Order: sequence, then C-alpha cells, then structure tokens
Amino acid sequence: MRTANLIVAEILELLRGSAAPGIATMDLERIAEAEIKRRGARSAFKGYRDYPYCLCTSVNSEVVHGMPSAKRMLKEGDILSMDFGVLHDGFYGDSAITVPVGAVSKEAMRLIKVTAESLENAIEAAREGGRLMDISHAVQSHVEAAGFSVVRDFVGHGIGRELHEPPQVPNFGAPGRGVRLKAGMVLAIEPMINMGASDVKVLEDGWTAVTVDGGLSAHFEHTVAITAKGPYVLSRL
Ligand code: MF3
Ligand code: CO
Repeated sequence: MRTANLIVAEILELLRGSAAPGIATMDLERIAEAEIKRRGARSAFKGYRDYPYCLCTSVNSEVVHGMPSAKRMLKEGDILSMDFGVLHDGFYGDSAITVPVGAVSKEAMRLIKVTAESLENAIEAAREGGRLMDISHAVQSHVEAAGFSVVRDFVGHGIGRELHEPPQVPNFGAPGRGVRLKAGMVLAIEPMINMGASDVKVLEDGWTAVTVDGGLSAHFEHTVAITAKGPYVLSRL
C-alpha cells in the first residue's frame, strides 16, 4: 500500500505546484492522468460509480467531488481541494489537499490551516488500543473550537484492496466509542470542514457537493496504517 500511496503523494505535490491563476481544473486532470500512466498505475476514481475523471477538483464552496472542467479557470483568491487516488499492484491509495490559489483571505487561510491540523490530530489518535471515534473526536473538537463546522454527509473509510472498505470514519463523534483500533488496519481519514454551517447538497450533475450557505469548504485526506509502533501515514512523501 505504501507504493500506491507514494504515487498519490508525488502526483498531488505536482498538482499543488500547478494550481495557479489562469489554470483550468481540466488542465490538472490532464496532468494527473498522464502521471498515473507514466507510473504504470490506474485511477482509483475514474469509473468508480461512473465518476468520469481521475481527480476531484472542488473550488471554494464546493465541498467534495467537484468535476474538472475546461471552463473552470482558477483565479487569485480561490481555494482548491484536490482529491486523488490510484490503484497499484492490487492496492489503493487515497489522499486530498486544499491549496490557496495565489493570495487568499486570512479567513480562508485559517480554514485551510485548521482543517489540516484536524487531520494531523486525527492521525495521532489512530493508535492500537484506541477506538475509532477517538479519531472522529480529534477532528470535531479541533474544528469546532476554531469556530468552523464538520460536514456530516460524507465520511472517511477503510481502504486496501478496495477503495472503500469498512469501517466508515466519521469526522464527528464521542471519544471511546466505535470499534477497537488494531495494528494492520488502514484508514483513509478525510475531514471536510465548512467555514459556515455544516449543511451540504449535491448539484444536478449528481456529484458536486456544495455548502448550502455558499461558505468556503476545505478537505484534507491521508491513508493511514495503524501499526504497533503508531500511525504510519502511507500517503506522506
Ligand atoms: N476520497 C474520495 C473517497 O474516498 C474520493 C472518491 S471520488 C469518486 O470517497 F469519484 F471516486 F467517487
Ligand atoms: Co477517501
């Protein structure tokens, strides 16, 4: 799984460097597609429930599953979430980042920072002997203390030979609840955090999830293995 996730990490870093004003989200899709091919991997997303692209590009009030478009030009001040996964040698890798496009507002930057921190806290809670909801609670407590809200309609997931395996990994919950965490489990932990209210809706295209109040949303994801020595972030470079 490390190999698949390293491929994901490398390509996401490349995409981070490419996200700039004047670039269309479809340009990022093309880069992702070419880089997957070059490494002999396959897209985890393309064809999954008929999703047509390798990459999800969610801009500003789009929460997750935004679809790349040649007409969606990035502009200074946008925030862009890129969610990306591959299948390599029978195993899946899955990770997401949110990046500022040029200079963004202080509050947008704080949303990105708090969401990234909530993922780091969640990773720290992914330890043998703990419970699943310790991870969920780590996200929720950090995000709500910062005045932001946790999206409840989408969750993280187990991952391995399938993209989505049990258990579901919510980003909210009471600590000490849920299944006991054991070495060998691999979880895709993915906080989706809104600046305003937590409500989301899916657009007519059947994929793009947006905030109901139009506020900004951020998303970070890592594939994390629980080991006897602690959490191992498989999707970190
Ligand atoms: N990281 C998301 C997930 O784990 C990406 C899925 S998008 C889809 O569910 F296109 F594949 F559905
Ligand atoms: Co995922």
